[in-house]
Amino acid sequence: MQGPGATGATSTAPLPRSFGPYTLFDTIGRGGMAEIYLARARTELGATRLVVLKQILPELAGNPSFSELLISEAKLAARLTHANVVQVTDLGRHEGQLFIAMEYVEGFDLSELLRRCSRGKIPLPVEFALLIAVETLRALDYAHRRAGDDGAPLGLVHRDVSPSNVLVSFEGEIKLCDFGIAHANDAVAGDAQPVIQGKAGYMSPEHARGAPLDARSDVFAAGIVLWELLAGRRYYRATEGKTLLDLAREAPAQPLPPSGLPREEELRQLLARALAPEREARTPSAQDLLRALEVYCADAGLVASPLRLGAWMREHFAAETLERRRSRERALRALDAGPPVVLTPIAPSVEPASAEPPAVVPAVSVPPGPAPRATAGPGPLGIAAAVVALLLLAALIAYRQG
Ligand SMILES: Nc1ncnc2c1ncn2[C@@H]1O[C@H](COP(=O)(O)OP(=O)(O)OP(=O)(O)O)[C@@H](O)[C@H]1O
Ligand SMILES: [Mg+2]
Repeated sequence: MQGPGATGATSTAPLPRSFGPYTLFDTIGRGGMAEIYLARARTELGATRLVVLKQILPELAGNPSFSELLISEAKLAARLTHANVVQVTDLGRHEGQLFIAMEYVEGFDLSELLRRCSRGKIPLPVEFALLIAVETLRALDYAHRRAGDDGAPLGLVHRDVSPSNVLVSFEGEIKLCDFGIAHANDAVAGDAQPVIQGKAGYMSPEHARGAPLDARSDVFAAGIVLWELLAGRRYYRATEGKTLLDLAREAPAQPLPPSGLPREEELRQLLARALAPEREARTPSAQDLLRALEVYCADAGLVASPLRLGAWMREHFAAETLERRRSRERALRALDAGPPVVLTPIAPSVEPASAEPPAVVPAVSVPPGPAPRATAGPGPLGIAAAVVALLLLAALIAYRQG
């Protein structure tokens, strides 16, 4: 959701800084509508916890229709409590600034994970790709079925199911964030297509046409995420004559390319149904897609657990995991030390959000199995040790011969 709004004011006040009951101590990203900080929340009696605090960009928060809709959607999202949904913990205004606080998920968002896999030539095992889709669908199914206190369905639609909103933690949890928040963005988008252009690659045709949405729109978006994970490439590719938004409106059917997966035809059919351009022909609910996918995973023997995904994440991204944790601990120690300290910034968890997610995502490894590991070279210490050993050997030979 990058757009004109994204170029607005950036807070330049140094970190750490206080913001109501929060201490903002690191910047972790910037999306289409907010500055995102890692913050520590402190209660009156001194208990603390880490949260992610999103400060809505002033140019958007200043728009009454945007903020009204954002607040009403965020209130609904705050009612969601589920292992696969990022918990919204606070929603408010401080010093005129609109913010949302939520649980911090330590890991990568899916688009960053794919970028790192692609860069490091690390294939994503197919069971993990399927697990990510299954857990994302669990979040959607729960939210779509959620009813209010009066028992009436809340009618929640995520509206922005895309890799940057699927968070994968170093513990192997998969959590969907930003429930409903895109609604506010849609409301101000109007004719300004660039606002929605960036996420058009995951839009249902009805969404791209600006029609009213229901849960089936999220089913379509989740279908694209799964298709891309399995195919290793983008579902829509903009060309000279067609933008992503044009393609999203037309939704040309694209069968899953051959991948050598077990029971591939079942998977192809399941995806074709989830990606049916006509809502009536589409898989009717996230739960139906979830059930079908679970049956496929069981029949194909491609079942994984968050436990194994977490171990894989920590194995392949060990350096990042450690560095992230150490920097955070350093920053927190500095906070506890008292007066303002200059902190070394934590490496951002994301590269600046780009309007176009990566064009190429890594293909999954099929069949599942340990991903190839980069063979570690000897390193400078190893080379020095080898040279010393050779010199000693030469000296020994010379001594014996002498
Ligand atoms: N609760 C969270 N825990 C950890 N990281 C988060 C959390 N929420 C967001 N992030 C990180 O911040 C990045 C930017 O988030 P943000 O939602 O603002 O932008 P986006 O998802 O790229 O775009 P959009 O505005 O469409 O949601 C995310 O992609 C993610 O990497
Ligand atoms: Mg987001």
